[in-house]
Amino acid sequence: MIKAVRGTRDLLPPDTALWNFVEAAVRDVFRAYNFQEIRTPIFEETALFSRSVGEETDIVSKEMYTWEDRGRAASDKGQSLTLRPENTAGVVRAYIEHKLWDRGLNKLYYIGPQFRRERPQKGRYRQFYQIGAEVIGPASAGSESPARDAEILEMLATLLDRLGITDWNLELNSVGCAKDRAKFDEALRKALEPVKDKMCSDCQRRAVTNPLRVFDCKVPEDQPIIAKLPRISQFLDEPCRQHFEAVQSILKSVGVEFRINDRLVRGLDYYTRTAFEFTHGALGAQNAILGGGRYDGLSEALGGPSAPGIGFAIGEDRLVMSLKETAEGVLRKPDVYIAPLGAGMNGPAARLARQLRQHDLVVELGDENFRLKKSLPTAERVGARYILIVGENEVKADAFALKNLATGEQVSVARAELARTIQGK
Ligand code: HAM
Repeated sequence: MIKAVRGTRDLLPPDTALWNFVEAAVRDVFRAYNFQEIRTPIFEETALFSRSVGEETDIVSKEMYTWEDRGRAASDKGQSLTLRPENTAGVVRAYIEHKLWDRGLNKLYYIGPQFRRERPQKGRYRQFYQIGAEVIGPASAGSESPARDAEILEMLATLLDRLGITDWNLELNSVGCAKDRAKFDEALRKALEPVKDKMCSDCQRRAVTNPLRVFDCKVPEDQPIIAKLPRISQFLDEPCRQHFEAVQSILKSVGVEFRINDRLVRGLDYYTRTAFEFTHGALGAQNAILGGGRYDGLSEALGGPSAPGIGFAIGEDRLVMSLKETAEGVLRKPDVYIAPLGAGMNGPAARLARQLRQHDLVVELGDENFRLKKSLPTAERVGARYILIVGENEVKADAFALKNLATGEQVSVARAELARTIQGK
């Protein structure tokens, strides 16, 4: 038997109703903040990710689905392509390709699958879904302002509250600008030099190639060493420190709670200044429900003009998981099951179904083989509130037997009154 590939999964009903509920709330909330949707391709040139996310990151060095595409002729060297492991790089590429700076400040969002070859476990998949947003534009359009950072964070708090997710924590840090990072890099190298031989082989390599990535290490034996390393907060220059202060001050004004975590560096290389994660207690080991931050130098790193930006991506799989217990009310069951009784009743029953669906009712339609005694369990399994009987007598009278399946009460209702009766008006 052929099964879904490890780390991928089918989303089945009734869960898909939860996914739709989340996406509808997201679109609604994002609209209020004047975000518009962007859809970028699912695969891109490999170089886009290695140049933005960073060669030394786990994502690029271990987790990408990359292949050489065939050229036109057999002798052509193919292009190296990669399934997107994240969507920020694609958005910034599109910003540059379509000269979106002409539009001033761009507030864009996306919902879609991403791909990482990670070890699958609860809350971690190889095809997973992100809901993300990016604010990007020339500095003259205000893209660098701490007001943008705070607005994004407040929007996320609003979204989570709206979804009924209450016990989230916002962890906030500033990872500084390129200059701060260069000083931090040097200090890290110095601090790692005498201890790196005691660390895992990944860290020994990182200590030389990209010391910041040592903070991604999950090996338990390395943690006491990592805990003693310098913190980026000690290296922030005055403008970065003030920017970070300003973000915090606006967050306090709007009443969004946060915790400073100066060990938070995020697993992607493009971040500058504000970096953040929202965690959720109920999720277990994979407790980061979303992450994001500023990437003021990314456009330039990809050959574009200066375009400060900030964004985030929510792990939709994890969001839906943390919602499951509270989401009973989301699943809309049929309002009515229509039971055509006897030969020739399929037509009249279909006509009634059509009429009721036009009133925004959810209708399940049976077949004229329906037998009241035998088929009732089928109708009940569907979970409908009412069963509506369509037999010859009912059609003649243009009034139908409507039975409330919870109370067992049955009444005869004229066609014109049916929709209102079922809606309980
Ligand atoms: P990220 O932290 O790599 O950031 O991913 C964001 C979120 O995606 C994570 O917090 C997690 O909820 C979810 N996620 C990541 N990997 C998996 C997986 N294998 N299975 C399930 N969920 C996963 C980014 O991707 C950045 N592009 C975010 C960003 C946007 N920064 C600025 N703009």
